[in-house]
Amino acid sequence: MRVVLLLLAALSLSAQNYIGSNACKVCHADVWKNFYKNPHFKSIASGKEEPKNTGCESCHGPGQAHAKLPSKSTIVAFSELKSKQVLDACLRCHNEALSRANIRRSSHTLNDVVCSNCHSIHKSPVPKFLLARNQTDLCYTCHQNVRSQFSMPFKHRVNEGFMSCTDCHNPHGGFAPTWRMASRPRMVDQALANEEPCLKCHSEKRGPFVFEHATVRVDGCEGCHQPHGSMNSRLLRRPVVFTLCLECHNGAGNFGRQGAGVATQTPTHNMADPRYQNCTTCHVRIHGSNSDPFFFR
Ligand code: HEC
Ligand code: HEC
Ligand code: HEC
Ligand code: HEC
Ligand code: HEC
Ligand code: HEC
Ligand code: HEC
Ligand code: HEC
Ligand code: HEC
Ligand code: HEC
Repeated sequence: MRVVLLLLAALSLSAQNYIGSNACKVCHADVWKNFYKNPHFKSIASGKEEPKNTGCESCHGPGQAHAKLPSKSTIVAFSELKSKQVLDACLRCHNEALSRANIRRSSHTLNDVVCSNCHSIHKSPVPKFLLARNQTDLCYTCHQNVRSQFSMPFKHRVNEGFMSCTDCHNPHGGFAPTWRMASRPRMVDQALANEEPCLKCHSEKRGPFVFEHATVRVDGCEGCHQPHGSMNSRLLRRPVVFTLCLECHNGAGNFGRQGAGVATQTPTHNMADPRYQNCTTCHVRIHGSNSDPFFFR
């Protein structure tokens, strides 16, 4: 019986502390005026949520004391919060989806870049996701060097607006990938079945092939390509194709040496002969082949 009474007392106390979003209108007309467009308005519109999950107070906490004595210290004022507190306040509701992105261990979270650095609840200038700026500009505010990578002669057209960072990255984080021995995830998003995001658009490059070029699967596309932009055609890491290939196929055995003279050396791949320098004129299916172990077709 006592427990029930205490419970009732606690309930009525907290119910009293919450005064409803209408009460904020008088003094915060600016914020209120636009709030009907906010996805968080749904809780007010439906009227089905508990007070602590409804409208203004779902983020700013119970408003009674604040309405009586308006000040930053009587309300949850995000301008006063530490980044960890912002994270927790938002994850109270957004935990499920964002934990799937491993948000607490993302490089952003670990470097104190949290929700309110990228999202603007009340003043978002873009139509989607309450972003603080349009996405590309948002990312460039902190990643200046990446802008120049996307201005190189060969590049994915991000600056032109045909693609965005989130086609390849999840800014909320990501799990260890299955390529590159699970190292350096770089918050790179994953396509279906834990593959590199590149395969969302270039699916034919990963097969499955009867004859795989092992490095495509093991080291990933970045073994040979610069994902953002490059001085070299095809976004390659090296200006001349054979220098790229020779990083791995680097003369073990007889490879690449002058063919003449010694019986065990093949006459092919004489690097002094220009014919052999353009590796992909013969090994055309460089990403893998269904018919030839040397990727000729
Ligand atoms: C009687 C007027 C009044 C009412 C009602 C009122 N506020 Fe305020 N509020 C203020 C004033 C004045 C300030 C500025 C305090 C300061 O700058 O020190 C303020 C500050 C705030 C801040 C902090 C802003 C910042 O800079 O971080 C938040 C958040 C806030 N109010 C939310 C609410 C919410 C939510 C409600 C409704 C539950 C509400 N207020 C109701 C007058 C009011
Ligand atoms: C989803 C969480 C959330 C909800 C719901 C919410 N706010 Fe805010 N509010 C914030 C955050 C975060 C900030 C800090 C500024 C920012 O990031 O946009 C903020 C800032 C403010 C400020 C400071 C002035 C400003 O514009 O920065 C006031 C006042 C305020 N909110 C009032 C309200 C009122 C009134 C409501 C209901 C109509 C409301 N808030 C609903 C999260 C919320
Ligand atoms: C009380 C629960 C709750 C809290 C706290 C909360 N949100 Fe939300 N949020 C929601 C709901 C519900 C939606 C609407 C989802 C929908 O449209 O189906 C939403 C939508 C959003 C969206 C837009 C998604 C879209 O598809 O456009 C963003 C961005 C967002 N929230 C960010 C935040 C941030 C940042 C905070 C912390 C300042 C926060 N939320 C706090 C419940 C919450
Ligand atoms: C580094 C910037 C950044 C940070 C930090 C960030 N977000 Fe986002 N968020 C984005 C971008 C960009 C999108 C749009 C994604 C897209 O276009 O697909 C987004 C989308 C969303 C969405 C809607 C789509 C979805 O993925 O569910 C929600 C909800 C959301 N963010 C909530 C949050 C919350 C809550 C936090 C903090 C716990 C947070 N975000 C931290 C950049 C960020
Ligand atoms: C085509 C896919 C793709 C797009 C689009 C993309 N990235 Fe990347 N990004 C990657 C990959 C893959 C890596 C990992 C490269 C590595 O580790 O070798 C990476 C690495 C990074 C890194 C860490 C390494 C570094 O160079 O500092 C940052 C920061 C980054 N990207 C930011 C961005 C931003 C900001 C955008 C949008 C303006 C963007 N990326 C668009 C694929 C992409
Ligand atoms: C408020 C500043 C800020 C904003 C905005 C921001 N970042 Fe970052 N980002 C950082 C910091 C700090 C780091 C960690 C240090 C580093 O690697 O440079 C980081 C790291 C990264 C990394 C490398 C991850 C790794 O594990 O090495 C990628 C990729 C990235 N950000 C992408 C993005 C994208 C995409 C956006 C836009 C949606 C974005 N960032 C917006 C500050 C920011
Ligand atoms: C959202 C779709 C998309 C994603 C994801 C994507 N790409 Fe691309 N990629 C394109 C398009 C479209 C082009 C054509 C070039 C243009 O935009 O002008 C292209 C061009 C290229 C080229 C140069 C082709 C040429 O003919 O010069 C390479 C190499 C490449 N991508 C590799 C990658 C790698 C590696 C990744 C992952 C890190 C990736 N792409 C992710 C869409 C994508
Ligand atoms: C072993 C090095 C290597 C790896 C790993 C690699 N590529 Fe390539 N890729 C090349 C070379 C070399 C070319 C240029 C072929 C040519 O010029 O004929 C190329 C060309 C391309 C092209 C443009 C021309 C075309 O054939 O459509 C795309 C797109 C591409 N690669 C995507 C990818 C993707 C996606 C991955 C990861 C799944 C990947 N590459 C992994 C070496 C590689
Ligand atoms: C990052 C390392 C790496 C790079 C760069 C690379 N390869 Fe490979 N390549 C491999 C590995 C590993 C195998 C598998 C070797 C094995 O199974 O013994 C392989 C296999 C091959 C094969 C099949 C024959 C065989 O020995 O199995 C050919 C042909 C080949 N590579 C050509 C090329 C060409 C041409 C390039 C340049 C466009 C290139 N490779 C770039 C690592 C690489
Ligand atoms: C003129 C056509 C041609 C060119 C150009 C060419 N190859 Fe080959 N490559 C072949 C032939 C034919 C074989 C099969 C040799 C055999 O049967 O042993 C082969 C086999 C290979 C093999 C597997 C066997 C081995 O010796 O390890 C690798 C790896 C290889 N080539 C890499 C390269 C690289 C790297 C380049 C560029 C520097 C290149 N190839 C240029 C025709 C060519």
